Amino acid sequence: MSTHTATAQACPNIAFIKYWGNRDQRLRLPSNGSISFNLEGLFTRTRVTFDTRLIGDVLTLNNKKVTGQGLQRVQTMLDEVRGMAGTNLHAEIQSENNFPSSAGIASSASAFAALALAASTAAGLSLSEAGLSRLARHGSGSACRSIPGGFVEWQAGKGDEDSFAFSIAPPEYWGLVDCVAIVNSEQKTTGSTEGHTRADSSPLQAARVEDAPRRLELCRRAILDRDYTALADVVELDSNLMHAVMMTSRPALFYYQSATLTVMEAVRRWREVGLPICYTIDAGPNVHVICPQVNCAMIAEKLEALNGVRQVLTAPVGGPARLVSEG
Ligand code: DP6
Repeated sequence: MSTHTATAQACPNIAFIKYWGNRDQRLRLPSNGSISFNLEGLFTRTRVTFDTRLIGDVLTLNNKKVTGQGLQRVQTMLDEVRGMAGTNLHAEIQSENNFPSSAGIASSASAFAALALAASTAAGLSLSEAGLSRLARHGSGSACRSIPGGFVEWQAGKGDEDSFAFSIAPPEYWGLVDCVAIVNSEQKTTGSTEGHTRADSSPLQAARVEDAPRRLELCRRAILDRDYTALADVVELDSNLMHAVMMTSRPALFYYQSATLTVMEAVRRWREVGLPICYTIDAGPNVHVICPQVNCAMIAEKLEALNGVRQVLTAPVGGPARLVSEG
């Protein structure tokens, strides 16, 4: 008998400049580069054990056994790791999120970042940050941005080799917070993987992609200069552009609910009276409200008082994916 174990944890991330649409669906080569920050305090923790006694891969997520497509997606990454390490051992994967799935925060980014680090380490590989980011990208595009720490850019790259993420500023560089306004979400929405395949059916996607290098530069500059006004401007523009593409895809995708619009309107109103605040929205109805740490408690309280807001989670800028223990 022989076992090789590693445990890793990674944060989810929220994008300022969004990843929407792929040039290559299988390799998750994005149509445009993107910029995000990691969400501190929220994490997926994953333990991978390669074990000679196993006759197949076994996955448990939050103590529930996962089979079917969920397991398949994890096995695709394990097969890549097994190929690199020259092993054919099966693995037991135990994964937990410390945030509720009802919070509507995409867990695929933190999940595949933690899995990439835990699985490659357990298999005896010692990948570079870029190598880990590429591996994580194969599992879920946005997961490549949860490998490095702080404010992170995913360069679209020319191909598989150079499409990975790197840090553009450490977490302490700028004290921003994501106040996630969780709104009632009754209906199940279409997931991102399916959503990406529809992006090119929108007549707006080509214009969105063509203008991406300009928005990326504005966003990079705003972060490096800690210029909140410039950041708010490009972040809302980019989120609105992605949702315009979603709404004009075939079949169309609508993620906003009425409470989503209530929060967006409030954010615009509060900004007009001088609060440094902006919104960004992913493939779901919740609104991520970005503000400086000093205003966070007050803004969370104001958000909680809005009609349709069930709960507000707050997350400052987080660090890189890291190993928790090795055995
Ligand atoms: C709207 O990374 O979840 O959150 O690669 O299919 O797993 P897959 O997609 P995913 O897409 C993220 C989409 C987004 C925008 C973003 O985070 O950049």
